[in-house]
Amino acid sequence: MTSLRALDLGVVIVANQKGGVGKTVTAINLASGLVKAGERVLVVDGDPQANLSLFFGAAERAKPGTGNIGELLTSLADGGAPRLRDHVIRQVRRGLDLLPAGHRGIRLELGDERLKTAAAGFAALMAGARAEYRWIIIDSSPSNGELERILISSSEAVIVPLEYQLFSVAGLEALIEDVASCAAETGRPIRVHAIVFTKAEKNVARMDAYREIFSTFRIPIFEVCKSEYVPRSIERSRTLFECAPSSYATSDYARLVEKAFLE
Ligand SMILES: Nc1ncnc2c1ncn2[C@@H]1O[C@H](COP(=O)(O)OP(=O)(O)OP(=O)(O)O)[C@@H](O)[C@H]1O
Ligand SMILES: [Mg+2]
Repeated sequence: MTSLRALDLGVVIVANQKGGVGKTVTAINLASGLVKAGERVLVVDGDPQANLSLFFGAAERAKPGTGNIGELLTSLADGGAPRLRDHVIRQVRRGLDLLPAGHRGIRLELGDERLKTAAAGFAALMAGARAEYRWIIIDSSPSNGELERILISSSEAVIVPLEYQLFSVAGLEALIEDVASCAAETGRPIRVHAIVFTKAEKNVARMDAYREIFSTFRIPIFEVCKSEYVPRSIERSRTLFECAPSSYATSDYARLVEKAFLE
């Protein structure tokens, strides 16, 4: 496959409208793997549930006045010219900065119409951030509202974590449609770059049948094995690369980083 580096793309969203498929775990470990490879990375918590922010010890940043994506979008919607750097927490890990989540009520507070007016400004901030960061990895929530449209529209590529289930086919089709609609609206291509089957169980016989079904999408398929190290690493607020460098799941994420991003 052609890597994102070869394509000179850098703003990448991890997205799937389905909950609990491994979006946040994937965003964390993609960012961690890229940092390990010496890259400058910004992670963006686009989910008001703030799981990613909590992981990086920044959940309190959802409070008003402390700087987060919700305040950034509010300022843009109000016609302001916020600076990304005033909302970013530096060095949550060496080489890794974080734009933390806004509070849970942000969707209602801003409303779809005002959110829409923030879209172009947010996309410009993400594009501009590539002057400082080689990679911007956006975690997103299991919904498909205006906030998700803004985040997808600001991205150049999409990584889709999925579970091996027949129902995932319809979910993937819906996401591909949403991405196409965002791309049509912005007039910029947005690439559905890879599918990642998280929680893969290598010995399940049905797996081959699923692989065949999903291969019809012509999107490169990766797998991350189901591993007890994943929930354990989350509990400890450590990435897989930090706390289980030799686990199979870590090798799977390292492979994804190498093939889909860096090669
Ligand atoms: N490879 C894996 N092996 C075992 N468990 C995993 C693996 N990947 C993810 N999980 C577990 O699946 C659960 C959901 O993961 P995660 O929070 O990343 O999903 P999500 O898609 O971000 O969820 P949400 O839609 O709520 O944001 C977590 O408990 C996580 O520990
Ligand atoms: Mg999540």
